[in-house]
Amino acid sequence: MSSSNKYNRVLVTGAAGFMGSHLVDYLVDKGLEVYGLDDLSGGYMRNVNPKSQFTVLDLRNEAGVRNYINQIKPDLIYHLAADATEGRSHFTPLECTSRNYMGYLHLLIPAIRNGLKRMILTSSMSVYGNQQPPFTEDMPLRPEDVYGISKAAKEQATRILANVHNFEYTIIRPHNVYGPRQNKADPYRNVVGIFINKLLEGKQYFIYGDGLQRRSFTYIDDCIQPMAEAAFLDHLHGEVINVGPEEEITIKELSDIVLAEFFPDPADRKKFAPIHLPERPQEVKNAFSSNQKAKQLLNYQPKTSLKEGLGQMIAWARQIGYEKPKYLDQLELDSPNMPKTWKDKLI
Ligand SMILES: NC(=O)c1ccc[n+]([C@@H]2O[C@H](COP(=O)([O-])OP(=O)(O)OC[C@H]3O[C@@H](n4cnc5c(N)ncnc54)[C@H](O)[C@@H]3O)[C@@H](O)[C@H]2O)c1
Repeated sequence: MSSSNKYNRVLVTGAAGFMGSHLVDYLVDKGLEVYGLDDLSGGYMRNVNPKSQFTVLDLRNEAGVRNYINQIKPDLIYHLAADATEGRSHFTPLECTSRNYMGYLHLLIPAIRNGLKRMILTSSMSVYGNQQPPFTEDMPLRPEDVYGISKAAKEQATRILANVHNFEYTIIRPHNVYGPRQNKADPYRNVVGIFINKLLEGKQYFIYGDGLQRRSFTYIDDCIQPMAEAAFLDHLHGEVINVGPEEEITIKELSDIVLAEFFPDPADRKKFAPIHLPERPQEVKNAFSSNQKAKQLLNYQPKTSLKEGLGQMIAWARQIGYEKPKYLDQLELDSPNMPKTWKDKLI
């Protein structure tokens, strides 16, 4: 790995969020001067590293972001701030686009003006849509939801603006990351957090459809190191890299492991067997990626088994306890296709 003094001021957006806060910890431990930004819409002050310089700021506030960037002049940015509610984005397309795409441009434009050297953009597997998995980075961008559109748009804007304005970038596409600090009170996303939070409430959770949707899950520690180190490798400029394990499992299998880790007594596992509901609209059935490129370029080696990672997450979640899910007062579009769990606030 190259030296960590390549950059003077590092900014992490989404620094109070799940992945952003772990990334800040990693960079602080590496001895870097780290600035963090978050509007706390999905993150928590309890996640913020006290050794970082943290500011509460909403990326939709263009003038505020411009002033902030003019002051700190980051030469490296890890962009993680996002409205990451993929399944909700059909019902809140404006919220998703303004937070994700417009918010990103509000950040990127003053950063370029102030001498940005490298952008590490956190994209998502959602850009692949319904193509045949395992997804490889050379596949076309074919998102199936508004969230995926915003991620694809950010990728394209980065590529184009980097070519014209001469900064380096690397795009990371993680998938289904889980672990301690994940927001488990958001009823619209984070399947693992939702399952565990419901069990902490002493109730059964819900599975959409037959539970045979196939996914692969990444433990947070396995994702953060390659993401962080991507900034320090010269040969990664312009690369797009999937980060996550290749082993896929169904949501039903995931549920079985969560129950087994949560309840030592098999009788309890039976009592809390999940309740099945109709499929969600536009949900991609099977989504998992190839990680050959991450292994080659980033020395990516996932180490944590699902059982072990879920055990760690459950131990953390028990410390926090049950948290009441936070629903939006109103979605931008209502529809009979809206999941019953949201309409009737069942999560
Ligand atoms: N967790 C996953 O499984 C996963 C998978 C693929 C991609 N990603 C991407 O990784 C990034 C981090 O995801 P996460 O799981 O840590 O989610 P998270 O919600 O915990 O973190 C995102 C943070 O962004 C903040 N934020 C949202 N809108 C903002 C705005 N307008 N201004 C400033 N801050 C704002 C939120 O408060 C939150 O703390 C996101 O870009 C997400 O799309 C996550």
